[in-house]
Amino acid sequence: MLVADTVVITGASSGFGEAFARRMAHTAARQANEQPTRLILIARSKDRLQALAAELRNETTCTVEVWPCDLSVPADRAKLLTELSRVRGERMCLINNAGLGDYGEFASSEPSRNHSMIEVNMTALTELTRTMLPAMQKAKHAYIINIASLAADLAIPDFAMYAASKAFVASFSEALRLELLKTNIHVTAVCPGPVHTAFGDVARRSGSQKKEVPFRKWFYTGVECVVNSALKAVQKNRPRCYPSLKIRLAGLFVRCAPLWLLRLIMSRRPRKAIPTTES
Ligand SMILES: NC(=O)c1ccc[n+]([C@@H]2O[C@H](COP(=O)([O-])OP(=O)(O)OC[C@H]3O[C@@H](n4cnc5c(N)ncnc54)[C@H](OP(=O)(O)O)[C@@H]3O)[C@@H](O)[C@H]2O)c1
Repeated sequence: MLVADTVVITGASSGFGEAFARRMAHTAARQANEQPTRLILIARSKDRLQALAAELRNETTCTVEVWPCDLSVPADRAKLLTELSRVRGERMCLINNAGLGDYGEFASSEPSRNHSMIEVNMTALTELTRTMLPAMQKAKHAYIINIASLAADLAIPDFAMYAASKAFVASFSEALRLELLKTNIHVTAVCPGPVHTAFGDVARRSGSQKKEVPFRKWFYTGVECVVNSALKAVQKNRPRCYPSLKIRLAGLFVRCAPLWLLRLIMSRRPRKAIPTTES
């Protein structure tokens, strides 16, 4: 059971981030001898973060802080990084979870949305990690969980930028883990398959709907499965985590299959969005 005295979670207002916050707070609460855990919750939705913080303060002994921030805005990030550079702990945990996608062809994509994806999925994750590393190096133990995706291993048409951004997360995490291998810091890239959260609705462009692929439903896993697997994996300092057996097998297939076969499969455009006017 991973217990930390200082936990920083981005994207804590919904989905995985919210579940990570609940899990870390309740796990800490069960460890009676530990000092109160400090939870720092980051996202744009201040109201949602405050509601979660109130719930966790009520149910646990944790100190819960709400740090609203738009991670796609460099000026907002700069203020956040200044605050984060002062955060210290004996057992620190950084969960770089905030992220967004965009379903559709790149040629018709919104440039501002592409920019947000780059800033949130890659730049913010990199900057938060860099900012917190000095304190983590002084801590007894430290854990970095970077939320990538099964898409990290695959070039996906109609999801091109998102998949590329997650390839960055996975590659960066692997290399960083190797640099820190002989230290007290564990780094894990988590590669979930599809999970029902707000992610899909946020990624869908207005006026389009998802093309239903018959076998896709089979791949869904639950939020709790992602959280459990990620926390176990980082505690064991596993480089990658594919939550659930089916996602592990899918990841294995993608990494072992020849490129020509993956290209053939992807040329069927399984992620293609279709206009809502079509029946
Ligand atoms: N769900 C899936 O199928 C799936 C699969 C693989 C990987 N993932 C990855 O898992 C992570 C969490 O996604 P989720 O499924 O939990 O989706 P979600 O419910 O939509 O949560 C996304 C979180 O990111 C935050 N966020 C988005 N843009 C932000 C910004 N500009 N500044 C600050 N925070 C921002 C959102 O908070 P605000 O809107 O309040 O800012 C929210 O808390 C993402 O990195 C996603 O790529 C998801």
